[in-house]
Amino acid sequence: MYQFDSCPSRAGSDSVKWHAVSGDIIPMWVADMDFASPPSVVDAIVNRAAHPCFGYPYNQDDLKAHVISHYQNKYGAKVEPEWIIWVPSVIPGVVAALQMMGGEFMYSIPMYDHIRRLDAEAKLPVIEVPMKRDENCHYAMDIEALEAAVTPAVKSLILCSPHNPVGRVYTREELLELQAFCKKHDILIISDEIHCELDLEGRHIPYFSLNDEAKIHSVTLSSAGKICNIPGLPMGFAIVPDEKIRAMLISRQDGLLPSGNVLSIAAYEKAYDGSCDEWKNELRTYLRENRDLAESCFNKIPEIRIPHNEGTYLLWLDCTDLGFENPAQFFEEKAHVKVCAGEIYGFNQCVRFNYACPRDQLTEALSRMEKAIAQWREEK
Ligand SMILES: Cc1ncc(COP(=O)(O)O)c(C=O)c1O
Repeated sequence: MYQFDSCPSRAGSDSVKWHAVSGDIIPMWVADMDFASPPSVVDAIVNRAAHPCFGYPYNQDDLKAHVISHYQNKYGAKVEPEWIIWVPSVIPGVVAALQMMGGEFMYSIPMYDHIRRLDAEAKLPVIEVPMKRDENCHYAMDIEALEAAVTPAVKSLILCSPHNPVGRVYTREELLELQAFCKKHDILIISDEIHCELDLEGRHIPYFSLNDEAKIHSVTLSSAGKICNIPGLPMGFAIVPDEKIRAMLISRQDGLLPSGNVLSIAAYEKAYDGSCDEWKNELRTYLRENRDLAESCFNKIPEIRIPHNEGTYLLWLDCTDLGFENPAQFFEEKAHVKVCAGEIYGFNQCVRFNYACPRDQLTEALSRMEKAIAQWREEK
């Protein structure tokens, strides 16, 4: 059994999440975990760092073999070595794919904030389309709304799967529906699957593995950053089955192609060779328990509405009924809990809450938030 209840102090780890808070504020915002990375990953990094030569690495064909067997074992998905293109990390891969298509692009909101800044980074116009939400606060991509918003200039669509921030793990039917829409309008799907191994409920389906059609109109991007908690060791890969799209992407990548980071490479070998599968399973179990605890707490607060979280470790809280201009500011000032403000995802009245931390930290953060709301009700 791995110990997720006791975590190393993040002091001295250059953590942006902890650096931003002072006093007794609990940071439940940036999407990394407060847990140590899997022991086999840590050992591999330490061993590699002990070698005093840090020259340019060769092309990582051995690593491709691990990624290929990982996709085969976890998803039953076949990947050919030439389909894999290493990228500096997921977002630069998304930018390269957007730029190779040109035109306009679209996605559903709420959406991960960095993706919402890509129109500026890729210098392309974007169309943002709100998701639909039912009476149980269940979010889904709104295909009818996408249909109403699409223009002939749209050449690509970013799918975030599992979805940050609403925590959806999309079903085969939903992906097929999106595929039909994109096929009709000749749109490339750029599938950001960085949270893929954080499928806590349901089974993540890598987009390219959906069917033969998916292979010819997609670029799937992923990394071990989230599941192994190593986003500070940037690296990632695109899976591009279609030869023509692959050639286009590779040509866009001039000047962007990584020569590789030797510590990331050491970590990725262990992330994908199966040696931390047990750790990953235990992590998912721990996260499910954290999620259940957080959901049962928020579900008791009538002013907060949450979708059931199927994946990621990020809960999306609709705080509209609290009536605050800035609910994140309320939680920071009154509960001493730092969450992400919903504005950056497209919705001012929401906040994003990261529950990937030891249970006592989560319990304390939830209790403070509950108390702050109770106090606010009394003072109303
Ligand atoms: C959906 C999504 N994509 C991409 C990233 C960042 O990817 P990278 O650091 O590999 O560029 C994040 C980080 O939170 C994310 O949530």
